[in-house]
Amino acid sequence: MLPLTQYKTLLFDGRLPKTYRYVSKYLNKDRLSKNVRQKFLDYYINDNSHNFVRSSPVVPFCDPTVAFVNAGMNQFKGILLGQQIPIHKKVANSQKCVRVGGKHNDLNIVGTDGYHHTFFEMLGSWSFGAYYKKKACELAWKLLTDIFKINKNMLYVTYFKGNPRLHLEPDLECKEIWKSLGIPEDRILPFGMDDNFWEMGAIGPCGPCTEIHVDMRGPTNRAKFVNKGLHDLQEIWNIVFIEYKRNENGVIEKLPLAHIDTGMGFERLCAILQGKTSNYDTDLFAPIFNVIPKICKDIPSYNSVFGEKDWNNLHTNYRILADHTRMLTVCLSDGMIPEANQKLRRIMRKAFYISDSVFKQEYGLVKELSNFVVEILGGAYPELERNISYVHQILDYEENLYRYLRSSSTSEWKIILESEPNLNELDILEMPGLLGAYKNIRGCNLQEITPEYGYKLYDTFGLDEDSIIKLAIGLQLPIDVDRFKIALETSKQKTNQQNPDSRTNNLLEKLEKLQATPTDDKFKYRYGKIDQNYIFHGIEAKILFIIKDGVLTNDISPNQDCTLIFDRTTLYCESGGQLSDSGYAIYKDGVFEINELENINGIILHKGKFKGTQNLSVGEFLKLNVDEDKRLKHMRNHTATHLLNSVLKKVKGATCQKSSKVSEKCLSFDVGVFGDKISAVDIKNVEKIIGDVIREGVPVKTSEVDSLELLTHDNITMVPGEVYPEAGIRLVEIDGSNITSREPCCGTHVLNTSDIIDFCVTGCKSLGRSTASIQAVTGYRAKIVRENGVQIVDDINTLKKNINNNSDKPELFNNKLAHLKSLLNVHPMDEDAIPFIIKLYGLEELENLNKRVKSATKDALKEIVEMEMKNALELNLMKSKSDKHFIVHYLRSSTMLESIPLQKATKICSNTPVLVISYTDSTVKARCCVPETFQSQVFNAQTWLSTVSMVFKSVAQPPKGQDPRNVCNMKPKHVNIREWDTLLKEGINVATSFAEAKL
Ligand code: ALA
Repeated sequence: MLPLTQYKTLLFDGRLPKTYRYVSKYLNKDRLSKNVRQKFLDYYINDNSHNFVRSSPVVPFCDPTVAFVNAGMNQFKGILLGQQIPIHKKVANSQKCVRVGGKHNDLNIVGTDGYHHTFFEMLGSWSFGAYYKKKACELAWKLLTDIFKINKNMLYVTYFKGNPRLHLEPDLECKEIWKSLGIPEDRILPFGMDDNFWEMGAIGPCGPCTEIHVDMRGPTNRAKFVNKGLHDLQEIWNIVFIEYKRNENGVIEKLPLAHIDTGMGFERLCAILQGKTSNYDTDLFAPIFNVIPKICKDIPSYNSVFGEKDWNNLHTNYRILADHTRMLTVCLSDGMIPEANQKLRRIMRKAFYISDSVFKQEYGLVKELSNFVVEILGGAYPELERNISYVHQILDYEENLYRYLRSSSTSEWKIILESEPNLNELDILEMPGLLGAYKNIRGCNLQEITPEYGYKLYDTFGLDEDSIIKLAIGLQLPIDVDRFKIALETSKQKTNQQNPDSRTNNLLEKLEKLQATPTDDKFKYRYGKIDQNYIFHGIEAKILFIIKDGVLTNDISPNQDCTLIFDRTTLYCESGGQLSDSGYAIYKDGVFEINELENINGIILHKGKFKGTQNLSVGEFLKLNVDEDKRLKHMRNHTATHLLNSVLKKVKGATCQKSSKVSEKCLSFDVGVFGDKISAVDIKNVEKIIGDVIREGVPVKTSEVDSLELLTHDNITMVPGEVYPEAGIRLVEIDGSNITSREPCCGTHVLNTSDIIDFCVTGCKSLGRSTASIQAVTGYRAKIVRENGVQIVDDINTLKKNINNNSDKPELFNNKLAHLKSLLNVHPMDEDAIPFIIKLYGLEELENLNKRVKSATKDALKEIVEMEMKNALELNLMKSKSDKHFIVHYLRSSTMLESIPLQKATKICSNTPVLVISYTDSTVKARCCVPETFQSQVFNAQTWLSTVSMVFKSVAQPPKGQDPRNVCNMKPKHVNIREWDTLLKEGINVATSFAEAKL
């Protein structure tokens, strides 16, 4: 190692102020991360006429092949593959990247060294046909050596040495370029596929690359250590010559046009410029490390030590926590949902685990640190600042969930670990699905994890690739890792594609043979308004194919069911949650009634019945029309769904669409809510805000954009997990004064929010922990629903009035109550649906009324009990022939009561031995009291009541702490109504005989 002073001089040609080492306080402003980022951008954009295209979110919404955006080029994939035309030919930016899975996965090493991260920024530059290798190398070299002033003698470059098996030539052109830039040959090094052939993922754009490496130690030639994983000799910049694409079958194919794609590790660049060997020692991390010991008392400050020197892993945990917090904050602020992304959730749980187990903070540390991430990165990525409250809400929700799972699921897992110690590597808290997965494997007695079963572990139990492999190894079950990875990748892609059945497949094959092309369905969007009326234009469409019973035919006779394929259509086929249109096609004096549509690879099948007098043949032209009323209802409900999605975010903060269904009758919207459940007040608010937007009459704008244009908009609402096309994305925008909605959507919408007419929620219920399902209606149907609501409120009020006037007998009241209850519990999508708010109000009112009536009846019945006992007493006194006064009485009124306190009955006869029996709700009770003056050894409360308890096969016991001779209760006993009369008679007889004999 060189002395520090010499090292500084060499690295920066001696032009750096002495203070640069002390990052946090005295760092040369020029080398602060934000200035380094800006310098890079200025260099490309101002000095070399590139265009700035901002970082895409880390959620790859147009690409099912990667789970996270893992390189700057992701958003330009369509251009690189020749599928999209670039708006700008020269581009530069800094891109938020996440590498936690797939081909580029740094997750497991994070924290153990100073330069691997789950989240990092990539400084990128691109040339889409503007310049190629030479200029790309020149630009990079000049920036590092002239602008950032890194000593040339500390740099190495590498190039691709070729691969004969894949028929890929060595990139000698690249070698020559570096030579021409004055780099000595012993610093230009050839490497193979692993290091110098870059691929985006298992499939996608790829090509040979050249890398620039920096030796932080100094100018002594250490060429033999390049690409050997030294912490102080690392790659900093990768310049890829995208010339190929790798296909699904693994074959590498030449692309028609080659492009430049470069990416420089921003954190590494900052570390080098700030004179640090670890990225964690730069100002990108320092504020996070500084605050941790302030929050966590008794925790030593961060120290840049690694390996054995970090004997208790404290500093490694510091690094993991900081790294993961950056990753989480960025992903969440880009709209990612942990529920929909197991990897994200696992990383989040790891961060919670470290906060708790290492830093002794049970709640809120990650949330607190996320504020510092915003402070550090918010300038470059304003969405972090904008969405921080959303990030906090999700962190709170997930942390609570994590703590709950931790307390409930760990004990069972601990028991499993006793017999399966090899599973210790797996963390149940990061992945609670492990428990189910383990039980399933053991339950099925599996001997191997096949690729298919591996997919089940992923899909059903939510395990990720790494954990599945670890689980297999831990259970010593063989797994073919490569085959499994490929199977997982293909299955993931398949789930995003349509899965036609075999009959459809046969048909499809035939249609393909006949070279059927996708139906031109742009006409579904061609509608307008004249005055206040919607006009849907019919079109002339030619019959290309007729299908009868799954078989192609040339013509069809009248009054038959069949399927027609036209060259074009004006009908909307189910997609994006909106159900299919109905319609009709007119032919001469006949009509083909279309009641079902199906889309197979873009070919739209119109299914229905042909009614007419003449045959219908292939090649004929028909006038095709949509069922306008149904379509308009779909449009109202669909636009209202968008409004609902936006308004819920406004009312509840962090929410995300899970699914939606738009039908003629209503809309149904399932939404993830991360926080308090949706309340009646929330629903009222939602209805109020949507009502306001409807009254405001806001235009609903639709435009067609491609993925790159979409990225230029802020606040786009996406459906997590949904994959959007690269081009032809319809963007639906509503810009109200109080609410904005901007969603990519292929559905049909009203042209103005006023055409929704009215909006009313008819149902809202929870589906599991964080999902709510909401149903709502629009248009005139909403008005009817409201009227239904008014009617039922009237009925409830009448019922109330009748109760107050005492004009309803209990039976009548019960009938009316049951009827109203059934009206209130109507299904939200039913014809007779009522407003959800009225349903809640009504059910509560009925409950209150019911309680009132019941308690009034109860009081009345209690009075009856007292009366009955008084009468019994008087009657007994009058009738008693002997001087032995006692009462044995069956309380008839008890059958009408829900419960009966027998002491009320016995109290009335305080001077007489009394034994009462009651029968309520098929249960017999008995109680007996004997005043002291009547007691003897043989006759007392216990002996007397025991005669009765024997009949009912029960026992006589005194109330707690009382003398059994004075008072005893019989333990309540269930008695079948069929036996009741006999047993009662017997009970009364034995009690009476006993008293007569023994008193
Ligand atoms: N796409 C290249 C990389 O990620 C620049 O390294």
